[in-house]
Amino acid sequence: MSDPVVEVSGLRFRYPDGPEVLKGVDFTVHAGEFVALLGQNGAGKTTLAKHLNGLNLPTSGTVRILGKDVAGQPLAQLARQVGYCYQNPDHQIFSSSVAKEVAFGPTNLGYSKDRVEELVEHAFEVVGIGDLRDAHPFALGRGHRQLVAVASIIAMDPQVLVIDEPTTGMDRHGGMRAMELLARWASEGRTILAITHDMDLVSEFIDRSVVMAGGEILADGPTQEVFRDSAVLERAHLKAPAPVLAGARLEDVGVVPGRSIREIAANIAAAARPKPKSELV
Ligand SMILES: Nc1ncnc2c1ncn2[C@@H]1O[C@H](COP(=O)(O)OP(=O)(O)OP(=O)(O)O)[C@@H](O)[C@H]1O
Ligand SMILES: [Mg+2]
Repeated sequence: MSDPVVEVSGLRFRYPDGPEVLKGVDFTVHAGEFVALLGQNGAGKTTLAKHLNGLNLPTSGTVRILGKDVAGQPLAQLARQVGYCYQNPDHQIFSSSVAKEVAFGPTNLGYSKDRVEELVEHAFEVVGIGDLRDAHPFALGRGHRQLVAVASIIAMDPQVLVIDEPTTGMDRHGGMRAMELLARWASEGRTILAITHDMDLVSEFIDRSVVMAGGEILADGPTQEVFRDSAVLERAHLKAPAPVLAGARLEDVGVVPGRSIREIAANIAAAARPKPKSELV
């Protein structure tokens, strides 16, 4: 496997004068991986994510990006490698047009005008919001503002994208589209850590899940396996999505489980289809 892109080891963290919020966190992510970070409110997901771009620095332990310790690296240098989309896109957006907003990051990183244009066009292509380029970001709905925030980070060409609640404010279709585009972007060799409470979208689109509770990692593995571990879900106060619950029952009656209702419906249809005579013997 390629060298790790994100390496978190023995990470402990407390806010000044506060209790310990991260209590020894270890995980590694490689290029091309799209990872969900799950856990109930207050589990420590955002606190952990902010260690990847140096917004938080470990009380003890280390965080490495592309092999280099985050501690001691200037934030501006890290910003080239790790893009961070905030939980609330409105904390990020401040320009008077979508195009200006998306161009701000790469301009600020010092890229030439031509390169900025290229990066902005690429980001529009990835996120599929080119038709909104002249709109005022705050005239858009929350879901579209979220996409603008994602495009403005992708335009900085980061190796790693940390995204806190990527689908908030999106309807089902919008959420699915956002997940599809993120999955495609990751598969081109990038790395995404997505914090989300939407278990249905995780089940369908994200292959690896990390579950946190009380500042610790309870599980880290293939999403479908993690979602079938009822002890872990209970400890983390998470609920498996319907397709996973249904899948367990369907297996009992010989139907292949699926990651989504769509997939399950197709599997049931396939199981119900009369078999050709040649297979009946
Ligand atoms: N700036 C801060 N100062 C002190 N304590 C904080 C700060 N930010 C978060 N905390 C505390 O750290 C713990 C973890 O919070 P964090 O925001 O990382 O959780 P989370 O998993 O992202 O939750 P959510 O799903 O609600 O976003 C909580 O107990 C929270 O109150
Ligand atoms: Mg959070």
